[in-house]
Amino acid sequence: MKAAVYYETGGPQVFKYEDVPDPSCGPRDIVIDIKAISIEGGDVLNRAGGPMPAVPHIVGYDAAGVICQVGEKVTNRHIGQRVTTLSPFGSHAEKRALAAITSWIIPDKVSFEEAACVPVTFGTAHDCLFEFGRLKAGETVLIQAGAGGVGMAAIQLAKRAGARVLATASSDKRLERLKAYGLDVGINYAEKDLVSEVRRLTENQGVDLAVDGVGGKVLQKSIEAARSRGRIITFGQAGRGSWRIDVSGLALGNKTLTGVYLGAEIATERAQKMIGQLLMDIAAGIIQVPIDRKFLLSRAAEAHAYIESRQAVGRVLLIP
Ligand SMILES: NC(=O)c1ccc[n+]([C@@H]2O[C@H](COP(=O)([O-])OP(=O)(O)OC[C@H]3O[C@@H](n4cnc5c(N)ncnc54)[C@H](OP(=O)(O)O)[C@@H]3O)[C@@H](O)[C@H]2O)c1
Repeated sequence: MKAAVYYETGGPQVFKYEDVPDPSCGPRDIVIDIKAISIEGGDVLNRAGGPMPAVPHIVGYDAAGVICQVGEKVTNRHIGQRVTTLSPFGSHAEKRALAAITSWIIPDKVSFEEAACVPVTFGTAHDCLFEFGRLKAGETVLIQAGAGGVGMAAIQLAKRAGARVLATASSDKRLERLKAYGLDVGINYAEKDLVSEVRRLTENQGVDLAVDGVGGKVLQKSIEAARSRGRIITFGQAGRGSWRIDVSGLALGNKTLTGVYLGAEIATERAQKMIGQLLMDIAAGIIQVPIDRKFLLSRAAEAHAYIESRQAVGRVLLIP
């Protein structure tokens, strides 16, 4: 099969489009013919400097496709089914093998492109807001990097739950695009001070919940922007800065900082059902999957460079 591989981490130019051996199917695995790959924020960070369990390495969490092989111990999947999948790596290829437990049947009305974006992007947003963020109707939530993949999913899910939704992005143009997905008030952090803006918008109280996938100095501001007894969720490091922060503001405001990692929950029945339900909600048209642009798999380097240019609003896909 063909795959976008790399031999060392670095800029998008490390990708090579090469022939590699087809993946083999373990007893509890399925193999899929990939039809659409969602490039996750974590894929970009992993390519830039993440772990490489094998050389050459095939990066990538999420891909959707058609099952072409089923392991002997798998009883609930069969050849020909349309599934979307999540695995720690292997999405940037024509085929992937993975544990059947991290595959979900795609409802008829959902395309491969839409389904590819669901497990990590929407699953993480849902866990940040509800399972760990305990968001309730009537509360105010701040979503950092609202124009990112997880950010756009979180905006929709928070709005649907009856929250007032504030979100940040690096330009007014990006914020404008988020209104269609449920954004109430956008904050252009390149031009305005985030903490003063949040205070102005919340009668000086701060937000009930801040969801932060940027980390570093931005996470520090998320802590400051939360109200007394507020909750802050940290789930990522899109800003590529240090993980170190000053936690003194937590105690002074009786605030709670919680880390969220979907991978640690993915094999639970709860997470399995949650992602299955998100797919059903997309089929019913209750939530939308914003797709910015598609590239051929052979152009993986261009696609990653486009994401790093921070122009994308919604997911960028690769098509084998
Ligand atoms: N814990 C988990 O289970 C989990 C799951 C999914 C993702 N993640 C992590 O969460 C983070 C966000 O993921 P994502 O998929 O939403 O990412 P994404 O789609 O690539 O979006 C990231 C956003 O971050 C903003 N940003 C701020 N500083 C940046 C910088 N220095 N470089 C690039 N972008 C910057 C950009 O928006 P502006 O230009 O508007 O600021 C960009 O749209 C990543 O670190 C990812 O690894 C963790």
